[in-house]
Amino acid sequence: MDLKRRIPILRWSVWRMATATRNITTTGQIGDGREAAAVEYVLKNARAGDVDDVLATIDKFAYEKSILINVGDEKGLLLDTAVRRANPALALELGTYCGYGALRIARAAPDAKVYSVELAEANAANARRIWEHAGVAARVTCVVGTIGDGGGTLDVLANEHGFGSGALDFVFLDHDKDAYLDDLNSILDRGWLHPGTVVVADNVRIPGAPKYREYMRRQQGKRWNTVEHKAHLEYQSLVSDLVLESDYLG
Ligand SMILES: C[S@@+](CC[C@H](N)C(=O)[O-])C[C@H]1O[C@@H](n2cnc3c(N)ncnc32)[C@H](O)[C@@H]1O
Repeated sequence: MDLKRRIPILRWSVWRMATATRNITTTGQIGDGREAAAVEYVLKNARAGDVDDVLATIDKFAYEKSILINVGDEKGLLLDTAVRRANPALALELGTYCGYGALRIARAAPDAKVYSVELAEANAANARRIWEHAGVAARVTCVVGTIGDGGGTLDVLANEHGFGSGALDFVFLDHDKDAYLDDLNSILDRGWLHPGTVVVADNVRIPGAPKYREYMRRQQGKRWNTVEHKAHLEYQSLVSDLVLESDYLG
């Protein structure tokens, strides 16, 4: 494997990202325009209507141009497997970024309606362009907001997009790591999950979601059954990460 692929600190775009932690939490972007550049790259280089090619082109951009904070190709395989197991009609992602994760969910569940909640309007606009190019825009929707905004975004999902009792088959948590548990609880409080709903959580080791991990450990065999998957942080093989896959028991 190419050394720069394996060892992220050899890449300038990784250093640039490391200094941009504040940007990521406030604007949802690294701050150097790489997300918009990724969209232009996809529109120029990926075959329109070809989801596989769009995903591969985003991965190529992240490896060869600037690293992106998508779930990525390695952990994406875990996501794909969990989605196929859930076989969702309705799936929800928290944290859209450039639309890569939602696109993987849409590919693994070809009949599903996929919703992705994103705090940054600019990310929503980028993701919509990618989904349009991939040909999935009719069934993949970005809702700008947060689950923790006091109920406004949850109400939009309920009133405008038909989220209701037991309707949600799959959830992908990949947004603010400190909000994983509270946001999952807010979704549970709405009654949208059903026994068998699958919840996947990325970045549980890095940046880390310790409260969420502890909760799933305490609930093992009670409300949830969880498998912890060891993997690597996106687009390199040096730093390890954890993906949690949890089945709701009801
Ligand atoms: C790691 S990226 C998501 C990557 C995406 N899931 C993928 O695999 O392509 C995190 C995203 O979550 C967004 N975000 C952060 N806090 C959020 C929140 N509370 N609600 C919704 N989105 C949030 C950020 O703006 C950023 O776009």
